[in-house]
Amino acid sequence: MKRSAEHLQVIVITGASDGIGAELAVQLAARHRTSLALVLAARNEQRLQMVARTCKRYGSVCLIVPTNVASESECKHLIRATVQQFGGIDILINNAGRTAQSSFTERRDLGWHQELMRVNYWGSVWCTHAALPYLRESRGKILTIGTHASLTGLAGASAYSASKAALSAFYQCLRDELRGSGVAVLMAYPHHVATHLQEHGFLSTGIQGEALRGSQMMPVSECAARILRGMDKNQSRIMLRRTDRLTHWLYLLAPRLAARLFKPAHQESAQAGHQENSLHPNH
Ligand SMILES: NC(=O)c1ccc[n+]([C@@H]2O[C@H](COP(=O)([O-])OP(=O)(O)OC[C@H]3O[C@@H](n4cnc5c(N)ncnc54)[C@H](OP(=O)(O)O)[C@@H]3O)[C@@H](O)[C@H]2O)c1
Repeated sequence: MKRSAEHLQVIVITGASDGIGAELAVQLAARHRTSLALVLAARNEQRLQMVARTCKRYGSVCLIVPTNVASESECKHLIRATVQQFGGIDILINNAGRTAQSSFTERRDLGWHQELMRVNYWGSVWCTHAALPYLRESRGKILTIGTHASLTGLAGASAYSASKAALSAFYQCLRDELRGSGVAVLMAYPHHVATHLQEHGFLSTGIQGEALRGSQMMPVSECAARILRGMDKNQSRIMLRRTDRLTHWLYLLAPRLAARLFKPAHQESAQAGHQENSLHPNH
């Protein structure tokens, strides 16, 4: 299908039913209004409908595509449905993700770890692979949501951090492969954001660790606004706060010092989830 001359900007967002993805959708709709076509993907169709209703109030066009990104065929279908409807893609936002609160050393079964890799890593890679021909055509953008934890390490989050570190390495290479193609490859590294990520996680206890509650959490609206600002500037690494940038550099330049300075707070938050999970030894 050919795109019309006055085509809408087409943005696909995975994990758009809640949290950061839903907020990105609403802020993009508020900003671009009638010139935007949003494609909202996640598993929970009802919640996608709610997000779409809010976006439509701004005049944006919305297409809902219920998608489990842990399935390659569903990722391909998401991109196919988008192109059939709108004739192309300008921006792919790989946001769908889950966390896990678990100590690797105490788990007998690693099925959840594999599933987490399918959602966090393969879900992004499959969508990117399917969307790439259209993004080349539009000289578009790929924005992927990583995590600050993958840069620093975090006890009790080995599966989650590894899945996001793999993404980070993957997109770093893809950025090089696509140099000169006009496609921008961007990655955001949020820290603690006030969403339901922990409750939705594998092996979740449904509670946030003490250290993650309250003032340390960035409001989701601020997180989305900062990510979009980074996306506008085509920043390849979008760090949301100056302290995140500093921590990252310190980990690269003086890892032992950084670990001494920052790890205690990290461990405390991981431990809170981990201790609760130890009550369920069969996980
Ligand atoms: N919150 C934080 O502190 C934080 C920090 C750093 C990075 N991040 C990253 O930000 C992204 C968004 O997380 P969030 O904090 O907004 O969490 P959230 O509120 O739990 O939202 C996660 C979104 O991902 C979707 N999702 C989960 N599994 C999926 C699957 N198999 N297929 C399709 N969609 C799926 C969920 O929708 P359904 O359940 O409807 O499928 C939901 O829309 C994640 O990649 C996360 O790793 C979050």
